[in-house]
Amino acid sequence: KSLKAFNTFGIEATAPYFCEVTSVADLQEVLQQERFHNMPLLILGGGSNLLFTRDPQGLVLLNRIRGIEVVKEDEESVWLRVGAGENWHDFVLYTIAQGLAGLENLSLIPGTVGAAPMQNIGAYGVEIKDTFRQLEAVDCSTGQLRIFEGQECEFGYRSSIFKTWAKDRYIIASVTFSLHKKPNFNTSYGDIQKTLAELGIQELSLKAVSDAVIRIRQSKLPDPRQIGNAGSFFKNPVISQQQFEELHQHYPAMPHYPQEGGQVKVPAGWLIEQCGWKGHRRGAVGVHDRQALVLVNHGGAGGSEIRQLSEDIQASVAEKFGIALETEVNFV
Ligand code: EPU
Repeated sequence: KSLKAFNTFGIEATAPYFCEVTSVADLQEVLQQERFHNMPLLILGGGSNLLFTRDPQGLVLLNRIRGIEVVKEDEESVWLRVGAGENWHDFVLYTIAQGLAGLENLSLIPGTVGAAPMQNIGAYGVEIKDTFRQLEAVDCSTGQLRIFEGQECEFGYRSSIFKTWAKDRYIIASVTFSLHKKPNFNTSYGDIQKTLAELGIQELSLKAVSDAVIRIRQSKLPDPRQIGNAGSFFKNPVISQQQFEELHQHYPAMPHYPQEGGQVKVPAGWLIEQCGWKGHRRGAVGVHDRQALVLVNHGGAGGSEIRQLSEDIQASVAEKFGIALETEVNFV
């Protein structure tokens, strides 16, 4: 089965075994089949955060578990349990239409609901952990369904246990969010205020904030339906105060965000741009011309070409700034 349509980089790869599941029972039934035991397993959601550098071995499972239900409601909030296979942005639009607040800043992020907690998706000052309550996941080795509360997921910057020690051990089936009936708007990040003004918005609303975020994303990030990409390819590095101060003397214009514990986060996109990569093109692969953190497939690229480009970028950032960039995208 060709996986080209199932990864937003648009890389050609072939799955020896491929299966689509639409319910927990479906999933448990597949995991029970003897022929799949001891076979490597790859779970696909939206395929928007992965890079195929070769064909996956074993079974590829497409998670299409759907459904949105209210599991609890009180004066301040509504708890929604959402199937892992729901499209993230469609779900965000649904919450906005229901007048439920908390996810509006996370509009237009590609991928599925089930993939969102794996790397604690975040944008414009909000992370999924802020409204996350719990998730249900199937244990691949036993087929049992179990619940993970927020604390157990160990959410960090673009990270959770599902990217570290629990990687490949669980398949997320649903995610429960508690959303607010009364909005608490977060418009302090970057260009949100400016964009709201451009849109002529006088009074804040969930829809207005969502529209502003959509407009900013569309202006900087390539649409995967037109140009293959997986969003930010690298994480923004966090460096020590001392290293920051040394760099800042040489590069006073370097944007920077102080972190808890005295460390400093610097935007990888800025570092990459300073190394001259922004808009760079090499055959079918390149660096996006409006956001240097995004690597793109102009059409027909192989995953290894993108990997090579990413390694060359890492090498030049390390040489110029002494900073090791970590990838955000998962390699297969
Ligand atoms: N910058 C440059 N050149 C570039 C790109 C950025 O100088 O080519 C500078 C900008 O001018 C700005 C700073 O870097 O001063 C930050 O840029 P931006 O606001 O575009 O955000 P980012 O740090 O590059 C992160 C997330 C994005 C998220 C945005 C908005 C990571 C790895 N990326 O990008 O997430 O949408 O903030 O919150 O944390 C993703 O994870 O796939 C993703 C797109």
